[in-house]
Amino acid sequence: MRAMTKANLEAAFAGESQAHMKYTIFAEQADKEGFPEIARLFRAIAYAERVHAANHLRQLAAIGDTAANLETGIAGESFENTEMYPAYDAVARLQDEKGALLSIRYALEAEKIHEAMYRDAQSLVKNGQDRPSASVHVCSVCGYTVIGQAPDKCPVCGRQRDAFREF
Ligand SMILES: [Fe+2]
Ligand SMILES: [Fe+2]
Repeated sequence: MRAMTKANLEAAFAGESQAHMKYTIFAEQADKEGFPEIARLFRAIAYAERVHAANHLRQLAAIGDTAANLETGIAGESFENTEMYPAYDAVARLQDEKGALLSIRYALEAEKIHEAMYRDAQSLVKNGQDRPSASVHVCSVCGYTVIGQAPDKCPVCGRQRDAFREF
C-alpha cells in the first residue's frame, strides 16, 4: 500500500474507533436521560462505525492470527504502562489536574495487569492451548481486571463487588 493511503486509512481507523466509543457511551447517557430510542440510534451508528474501523484495519493488513494479535496487545499495553501513562501522570501532577490524575491512575493500574494477562495468554497460545475456562471480571468504575471471581472490594477504586461486570 502506498504511504499516503496507509496514513489516511490509519487516521480513518483512529477516527472511526473514537466515534464508535463515543456513540456507545452517548447511548448509555441517552438511556440514563430516558431516551431509549435515541440510545438505540447511537448504538446502531456506533456499530456502523465499528464496521468501518474493522474494514480499514483489514485493508491495513493489521489483523494477525491470535499469537500475533496478543503480541500487538502486549506491545500496546506495555507502551501505555511504562511510557505513556507515567509521562501523562507526571504532567498532570505538575499541572495539579486532579480529575486527570485519577483517570490516568485507574488506566495505569489496569494496563499493567492487562499486559501480564496477555503475556500469560501468549505462552498458552504458542503451545496451541486456549486459556483454562475462567470468567474475567472488570470494575465498571476504574477498569481493574481480574481473572475468576470479582473481589468483595475493588483494590484500585474501592467499589463493592456489584460494580464488576463479568465476561
Ligand atoms: Fe489495557
Ligand atoms: Fe475499581
